Amino acid sequence: MCGIVGYVGSRDAVGVILDGLKRLEYRGYDSAGIAVVSSGGLQRRRSEGKLQNLVRSLAAEPLSGAFGLGHTRWATHGRPSEENAHPHQDCTGRLVVVHNGIIENYLALKARLEGAGHRFVTQTDTEVVAHLVESLYAGSLEEAVRRAVGELEGIYALVLMHESEPQTLVAARVGPPLVVGLAEGEHFLASDVAALLPYTRDFVFLDDGDIVTVTPGAMRLVNAAGEPVVRQAQRILWDPIQAEKGGYRHFMLKEIHEQPQAVRDTLFGRMGLEEGEVHIEELAGAAASLAEAKRVVLIACGTSWHAALVGKFLIEQIAGLPAEVDYGSEFRYRTPIVDASTLAVAISQSGETADTLAAFREAKRLGASGVAICNVQGSMLTREAAGTLLTHAGPEIGVASTKAFTSQLVALALLALHLGRLRGTLSRDACRRHLESLARLPHLMEQALAAPGPIEELAKAAVKASDFLYLGRGIHYPIALEGALKLKEISYIHAEGYPAGEMKHGPIALIDERMGIVALCPRGRVYEKMLSNVQEVKARGGRVIAVATAGDSEIRRILDAADTLLEVPALDELWSPLLFVLPLQLLAYYTAVRAGRDVDQPRNLAKSVTVE
Ligand code: G6P
Repeated sequence: MCGIVGYVGSRDAVGVILDGLKRLEYRGYDSAGIAVVSSGGLQRRRSEGKLQNLVRSLAAEPLSGAFGLGHTRWATHGRPSEENAHPHQDCTGRLVVVHNGIIENYLALKARLEGAGHRFVTQTDTEVVAHLVESLYAGSLEEAVRRAVGELEGIYALVLMHESEPQTLVAARVGPPLVVGLAEGEHFLASDVAALLPYTRDFVFLDDGDIVTVTPGAMRLVNAAGEPVVRQAQRILWDPIQAEKGGYRHFMLKEIHEQPQAVRDTLFGRMGLEEGEVHIEELAGAAASLAEAKRVVLIACGTSWHAALVGKFLIEQIAGLPAEVDYGSEFRYRTPIVDASTLAVAISQSGETADTLAAFREAKRLGASGVAICNVQGSMLTREAAGTLLTHAGPEIGVASTKAFTSQLVALALLALHLGRLRGTLSRDACRRHLESLARLPHLMEQALAAPGPIEELAKAAVKASDFLYLGRGIHYPIALEGALKLKEISYIHAEGYPAGEMKHGPIALIDERMGIVALCPRGRVYEKMLSNVQEVKARGGRVIAVATAGDSEIRRILDAADTLLEVPALDELWSPLLFVLPLQLLAYYTAVRAGRDVDQPRNLAKSVTVE
C-alpha cells in the first residue's frame, strides 16, 4: 500500500530510486513520482498510472541527482492523477515529502495552515505534511519533522528532503513499514527490504515513533523527544535473485512453481523425524504459553485468513485445542472472549497488515499470549510477537499470494504437531508418521505442478463464465475459499467458495451453463458426501471441474464428457490441501492471462495493506 524509496550516496539517485520502486510497485501502482536534488536545485517528476509512465517521462527528459526520494501510490485521499501523485511539496517548492498511510486530522491542519497563508494544490492528506513541516522549518529538517509528527494523527511512513540540506533525508514512522538499508558511504530507505536487496542485506527496521536522518556516511535515529535510539541492524538472508522473474512471464507463475522449495525450506531443520518431535527454536520462549493454553485464536486477513481456517482444523484435530479464526478487521469490533489462557496466533505474509497487527495487539491487551507465523523477518509483527515461526517462502511479489500461503500451511502443521507434543495429545509415533507425510510434500507438489492436467484448456472456457462456485468440505473448504479468491482477484470473474453441504441452501439456485463449478473431492472423511454434492450439481445441468486424488476411479464414473477431472497425488487428508490448492492457483492464473488481465498487479489491490 504505497511504496517509498529514498537514496543518499554517490550513485545516480534516479536509477536507484526507479529500481527500488519497480520492486515495490506491487504495493500500489496508480501513479508514481520522484524528486532529486542536483546543482540545479530540487526537481520533481510525477506521472499518473504505472511506474512505466514515469520511466518514459524520465527517459524523454532525464533528471539526475545524488540524493532523492520516490513513491508509487495506492490512492486513499484524492483520485489517482499526476497532481495527487507524490512527492508533494511545500509553498516554496524546496521541500518534498512522500507518504504511506493516512493523516486522519489533515482537514483541521489544512484549515489552520491555509489560514496562515499556505496554498494547497492537491486533494491528498499528504500535502498537509509538506506545509506543516515548512511552517516549522528553521534550518533543521530533522527538528521540523520531529515537531510536525507531534501534531499528526493517523499512520504514516514519511520521507522528506529539503533543497538546502544537501545529501540528507529525514524519515518517520508510525504504522506502515520503513527500513533503512546500510552500505558503505550510502544509505537507502524503503517500504520493505525486497526493494533494496540488490544493494544491501543489512537493514535497520524502524519502529513506531522513530525519526531517522540519513546522510551518505551517517544514520541518526531519535525518538519523538529527540533522544538518540540504539537499534541493532539485521542481516537479511533473502537472495536478490528471488525477487526477479527468472524467465517466467509473471511473478505469480514463478511463485507458484517455487512452492515445493518454499515448503521444503519452511519444514527444513524443524522436523525431528527420528525422535518424532518438532523443533521450533523461535517458539522456545513461548513454550509455557503453548503448553498451557486452553484455546487458540488465529488472527489474519485475506489469503492468510484462509490459512488460519486450515490451521483451526489442524490444531483441533492434532492438539485437541479449541481454535477460533478471526479476521483482523473484525476482531476488535466485537467482544472477544480472550484471557491469559488464550494463545493468539497472528498469521501474515508481510507482518505489516494493519488490521492483523491491531487485532493481535488487542488480543494481547486482553491478556492472551501472542505468537506469529510470518514471512518477513524483522517486520512489525515479528517484533511484537513472543515468538515467530518464520515461513521461508522468500520475497513474494505477485499480489495474489501463493507460495506464502502454502508455506503458512506447513508452518501451521508444524505448530499443530508441536502443540500436540507439548500438551501430550500426540504420541511420538503419531508425530513421526505425520512428519513422514509432510516430508513427502515438496516432491508431491513438484509432481502436481509438473503434470497439472488440462488447465490451460480449461482457462479458455473459464474466461467466458459469468461466475464460479468453488465447493469443498472439511479441511478443503478453506481451499475452496482460497481458489475462489485467487480467481476473482486476478481475473475479475465473480467467484465464491462454499462449503459443499451448504450449496443446497442457496447457491444451487445459481447453477446454469454460464456458471463454472469447481469441486474438491479428496479421498477421505467426506469423500462420499462430496460425490453426492457433485451429483446434485450435475442433476441441474452444471458442468464440473473436479479436483480429485490420482487414481480415483469412482469419481470418473459420475463425470461425463462435459466435465473435467484434475488429479493431484495421494497424501494423508490432513496435508492434501497443500496439493489441492495448486491446480486452483494455476486455473486462476491461466484464466487471468487468457482474459488479458494484469496478473501481478490486479486493479485496485495492493499486496500489503497497511491502512485499516
Ligand atoms: C492483501 C494481499 C493478500 C494478503 C492479505 C493479507 O490483501 O493482497 O494477498 O493475503 O493482504 O496480507 P498479509 O501480509 O497479512 O498476509
